[in-house]
Amino acid sequence: MTAENIAQLIEEKRLIEPKAGVPVEGEAFWNRPREVVELVSRLENGGSASLFGLRRIGKSSIMKEVARHLRTKGHTCIFLNTEGMSGPGRLLVDLVRDLEPSLRDKISTAWANNGSLTGALKQVAGVLKNEPVDTKSIENDFRDFWEPLTQTVEGLLRKHDGKVFVFIDELPFFLSDQMDKGASKENVIDILATLRRWRQDSQIMSQVLCGSIGMAGFLRRHDIARDHNNDAPGIYVGPLNQDEAKNFWMRPRRGIGSTDGRMPSELLSSMLQ
Ligand SMILES: Nc1ncnc2c1ncn2[C@@H]1O[C@H](COP(=O)(O)OP(=O)(O)OP(=O)(O)O)[C@@H](O)[C@H]1O
Ligand SMILES: [Mg+2]
Repeated sequence: MTAENIAQLIEEKRLIEPKAGVPVEGEAFWNRPREVVELVSRLENGGSASLFGLRRIGKSSIMKEVARHLRTKGHTCIFLNTEGMSGPGRLLVDLVRDLEPSLRDKISTAWANNGSLTGALKQVAGVLKNEPVDTKSIENDFRDFWEPLTQTVEGLLRKHDGKVFVFIDELPFFLSDQMDKGASKENVIDILATLRRWRQDSQIMSQVLCGSIGMAGFLRRHDIARDHNNDAPGIYVGPLNQDEAKNFWMRPRRGIGSTDGRMPSELLSSMLQ
């Protein structure tokens, strides 16, 4: 296969580029219609979902594909990877920063003008000027900032025309990590309650909450009532079945298998045994 052929195949979107590690997006995404269609229709009908499945099974890639699809229809989609986030202050700032500019500016102005916010809390208004915001200094003051900041967001989201789709990756892991670092169960419940309130008004927000341990498992483990999450029913991302796996591996790809970029059939059958 010549470089020209390869370029042509990429152009025709028939050649996938194998990638390892990070979630795949766009052309690198091999379609998984079962999960993608179910999630898109759930979200378009005003619902929310918790996505769970084994590590490395493709959950984040599915979320990215669903977000890409909804964006092509003109919807605002926000993807928040909570892995490594300093805390709920960061979560909030990142969410607001990725809203459409007019809404983001209104929220930031309201935050900046909120007389009850002082010191480090004031600096989150830097999100307005697109400056990098260091949220570490506010994470310890959860009780001071969570309610006032989230109420502003909620009030302005309600007045805003058009809903928002929010994808929160690794949320159970993030919340566990927060507890390990000393956050109280009450704080975690406050975060869950806010997210629930936001997604309960399907005019303002739908959410996908994702993690390999799953939200239900997290709540069980920490003895937190299930009703914090039962309005975002689980969607399981399972392994590919034999035919799907075969089709996936039979797609021409760069650098693997025989010269035409296909997995040799003997190798494929031994892999799928
Ligand atoms: N639909 C897909 N098309 C092509 N490759 C995929 C697809 N889904 C997953 N992969 C491959 O698997 C890897 C892991 O995918 P992804 O990060 O989406 O899984 P995950 O379930 O979110 O993993 P983790 O448990 O680490 O969060 C990707 O780097 C990619 O190599
Ligand atoms: Mg992932």
